[in-house]
Amino acid sequence: MLTITNILMPDETRQTITRDYPEDLTIDGADLLALPGLIDPHVHFRVPGLEDKEDWQHASVAALKGGVTTVFDMPNTKPATTTQERLQNKFAIIDGQLAEVDLPLRYKLFFGADKNQFHEIVKVKADIAGIKVFMGASTGDLLMDDESSLHAVYALAKAHGLLIALHAEDELIIRNNAAKYADQTDFKYHSIIREPQAAVKAVQLVIELAELYQVPSYILHVSTQGELDLVKAAKARGVMVYIETCPHYLFLDDSQYANLNGRGKMNPPLRSKIDQDVLWHALNEGVIDTIGSDHAPHQLNEKEQPLCKCPSGVPGIETTLPLLITAWRENKLSLAKLVALTHDNPQQIFNLPVNDDLVLVDIVNYRELSDAQMASKCHWTPFVGMNLTGFPRYVYTQQRLIDCRKL
Ligand code: DOR
Ligand code: ZN
Repeated sequence: MLTITNILMPDETRQTITRDYPEDLTIDGADLLALPGLIDPHVHFRVPGLEDKEDWQHASVAALKGGVTTVFDMPNTKPATTTQERLQNKFAIIDGQLAEVDLPLRYKLFFGADKNQFHEIVKVKADIAGIKVFMGASTGDLLMDDESSLHAVYALAKAHGLLIALHAEDELIIRNNAAKYADQTDFKYHSIIREPQAAVKAVQLVIELAELYQVPSYILHVSTQGELDLVKAAKARGVMVYIETCPHYLFLDDSQYANLNGRGKMNPPLRSKIDQDVLWHALNEGVIDTIGSDHAPHQLNEKEQPLCKCPSGVPGIETTLPLLITAWRENKLSLAKLVALTHDNPQQIFNLPVNDDLVLVDIVNYRELSDAQMASKCHWTPFVGMNLTGFPRYVYTQQRLIDCRKL
């Protein structure tokens, strides 16, 4: 039996808690907070085909160091995960990589929507977290920007009881802006090219489709006030839309490009301080359902290229929890809200079985984030230099106790 004494709980009481464990072990919880194992519904662990950026040997360490015990991985790999054969192959590679490091990590896979492979969806429906739709192009070649394909995938999801997760940015708006600003070199143009209206227009369409087909729709990385206004109204009408935001939209903004350069380039892009304030408000109000890291590693030398060559995406799985715990210490959100966003809501939205995973978080010591600390294969963080608390000390999952300082 594992016993943790005198530990702070999310309801801010102190308790002694126990878990099944092969031996008798007691941990003093005086400096620690107990949270349910985090569920990160949005990661890109890059397997197969992009292992120069990330693999599951590294990413599992990064996840556990970040208190995450369940991840949902995206299909924009090489090749993209759009057929049953590729999906089965991906499961086998992942299981092999996790076995190599002997680390327990629960995972689910999203299946990529490709209008030429829709017949594959029926074959895999029991094995996937849902269908991922890219309405705007991003890393990889998955794109479904025509309305008839979107209607077709919604009809399929309805028929087979599947959830759809969406990258909601309007491709046409982005392409027009990209042509207009093709000569610009300042990274701040990334936010101008992928303007807020591109996200707002796509979210409007998602809401229409979700309402028409009655299909649960999970909108990834919501970042603007306009999207929140639409979703809030849709939720009030009972439309099945759920929304995620990401730490980079909560803790970075578009005034920081001069420091960040390529480290601040992701899709959707960084937004204004006003959008950020509205996101925090929506998060506390319960309009935002989840926080996904959108852990999307690229190598630092790729990110140090000029704007036109720099790939979009930032790592984040090992910094989500310290950022949120530090925000809690600064009274920006409650622990109850933190648990709802990082565990309870994703568990309900994706219908996950209950587990007894625990994260024991150090809420006393502060540490400055450095690239060198990062376990991700890319070894950098856009939050470098931030002084944070809330690093996990232990993770308990599947009857194993992981000491995060030894990872
Ligand atoms: O910034 C991003 N990076 N946005 C995406 O949609 C994809 C991701 C990636 O895979 O690199
Ligand atoms: Zn993503």
